[in-house]
Amino acid sequence: MIKAGIVGGSGYAAGELIRLLLFHPKVEIKFIFSSSMSGSPATEAHPDLIGDTNLHFSSSLEKDIDVLFLCTGHGQSRNFLNEHSIPKDVTVIDLSRDFRLSESSSFEQRSFVYGLPELHSNAIKKAGSIANPGCYATAIQLALLPLASEKLLKSDVHVHGITGSTGAGKSLSETTHFSWRHANISHYKAFQHQHLDEIEQSLTGLQPSFSSSINFIPMRGNFTRGIFTTAYCHCDLTIEKAVDLYRDYYLDAPFTHVTTNEVELKQAVGSNKCILKLEKHGNKLLITSIIDNLLKGASGQAVQNMNLIFGLDEASGIQLKTNRF
Ligand SMILES: NC(=O)c1ccc[n+]([C@@H]2O[C@H](COP(=O)([O-])OP(=O)(O)OC[C@H]3O[C@@H](n4cnc5c(N)ncnc54)[C@H](OP(=O)(O)O)[C@@H]3O)[C@@H](O)[C@H]2O)c1
Repeated sequence: MIKAGIVGGSGYAAGELIRLLLFHPKVEIKFIFSSSMSGSPATEAHPDLIGDTNLHFSSSLEKDIDVLFLCTGHGQSRNFLNEHSIPKDVTVIDLSRDFRLSESSSFEQRSFVYGLPELHSNAIKKAGSIANPGCYATAIQLALLPLASEKLLKSDVHVHGITGSTGAGKSLSETTHFSWRHANISHYKAFQHQHLDEIEQSLTGLQPSFSSSINFIPMRGNFTRGIFTTAYCHCDLTIEKAVDLYRDYYLDAPFTHVTTNEVELKQAVGSNKCILKLEKHGNKLLITSIIDNLLKGASGQAVQNMNLIFGLDEASGIQLKTNRF
């Protein structure tokens, strides 16, 4: 069994990770570290786990683990590694932004591999540490990687995305308050969302000549889970050729699916899937990309990375059922 530790235990991403790992056939959770709830049962923060676990949050780390998941916020993962000595042979999978960009991907003797399996599966299999991608970043990259792989990104890319309130984490804020969010919609961080850097890093890795803009308008949706993005750009491929390109690129990807049928958010929510719908309108290719922000966008992808690193079936423990209605 793989011995796992979790940090940031009371948050949303950790809650989802605990759910996945409790039912993973090859994993045993050794501890769940919490800075705010040490000593309390895990079910106090995650009451839906009643009957599933008797684990309590702890304030100490056991060193006898194989993998440590950091479900902490931006800046907190790096601080945590500064404050706690983690043995070099423990695989660290970090869900924050702290190590995603190549210029910040090292910490002491650790080198973090950007954990998008559809892009870096070979490097992930050999990695000692993983920087798990952002949620919007996952949806948008999966929409664009096949084009970049064939150097077909020749103009600005226009992206709109809408996310559920869990994307902002557990702490209450003005815009995650029920009174604000319910029956409401707004956009935020237009053209300057923090995930643009990692998206550009991956695209230019495949297509170094790509220098156009990704014009991204993120929006807050009045639902809790899921990300629905649309991206469009100039593309000379016919729809048939575009579908062939995308299906070939994702041939070995167990969770990323390409279709020309209508798609909706609930097809992905509750699962580790990314669903990509392709349409051609004149000389524009429109790619709709749908994920669950806490699964393929966070904890599901973290488990997918762990599976690859430990030589397990990539889909082990993350073949999940959606609730479509
Ligand atoms: N929510 C998403 O959809 C999503 C998607 C992709 C990536 N992520 C990333 O995943 C990470 C966790 O996100 P989240 O949504 O789970 O956030 P969250 O609900 O706010 O949880 C973060 C947890 O970090 C812990 N924490 C807070 N301050 C800390 C500190 N100073 N030092 C150490 N730990 C501290 C807290 O847990 P304890 O009090 O129990 O320690 C807190 O509950 C973030 O970096 C986020 O950007 C989130």
